Amino acid sequence: MADILEIIQQRQSMRVPFDPNRQVPKKSLMQILDATRWAPTAHNMQNFEVLVVDDRKILDKIGNIKSRVSEAFIRENYQQLSFSEEELLRKKVGILGTNFPADWRDPARLEKAVRESVSRPLKERINGSPMLLIVIYDSRKRAPASEGDVLGFISLGCVMENMWLMAQSLEISVHILSVFSGETVERDVKQVLHIPEYMKIAFAARLGYPVSKPAKHPRVRRDVEMFVHYNRFSRV
Ligand SMILES: Cc1cc2nc3c(=O)[nH]c(=O)nc-3n(C[C@H](O)[C@H](O)[C@H](O)COP(=O)(O)O)c2cc1C
Repeated sequence: MADILEIIQQRQSMRVPFDPNRQVPKKSLMQILDATRWAPTAHNMQNFEVLVVDDRKILDKIGNIKSRVSEAFIRENYQQLSFSEEELLRKKVGILGTNFPADWRDPARLEKAVRESVSRPLKERINGSPMLLIVIYDSRKRAPASEGDVLGFISLGCVMENMWLMAQSLEISVHILSVFSGETVERDVKQVLHIPEYMKIAFAARLGYPVSKPAKHPRVRRDVEMFVHYNRFSRV
């Protein structure tokens, strides 16, 4: 019991460069995939396939694909930032602004940030990782009667967490890259990996071993009493 909570608490997003020359051991990969296989999914539909990308040439091809941060991301990200550690510790949700470029956290410079957002190669996001796990799903199917396939998407979240916790237990770092499901990036990645049109990318995870420690910042979560309601919804 204590062990699983420890692994859950230790799991964190590793937004740092990984060592390109330190491979994820085959045995560890198999353990991560085994954990993936046992994820709960709505109706046990197992609505996922996983592409393991560890071939340097293919990683390079993907790394050369360009992505541009969208206006929606810059604006909506701004609304959810905390601007100091004190604010983050008080709010207990969201992300610290210093994780993002200075223009993104100054309302006076937000327009400029949107205007000047340029395309950058994915290699900057992959950041040395020797292995990507790309999780895809069949967009033609849905969990039975699930409007918008919400249950299918929740299932993909379970897949993500199983992968991540197993990697954590093996001391392998993970960083989720949602950018892979962005419209143009998804199209280009699918082309490189020969993914059929009807399959969609849910997310990519970069795996590996960091070459530096992440900047120290507080990790926040709400206290239990801030989100739990007993027997009736009780927030005023
Ligand atoms: C569905 C989903 C998508 C995410 N996409 C990204 C992403 O694109 N880039 C990133 O740096 N982190 C991404 N994250 C990581 C979250 O930002 C992170 O889990 C959250 O801020 C809590 O931090 P922690 O993982 O260090 O505990 C994603 C997480 C989830 C569950």
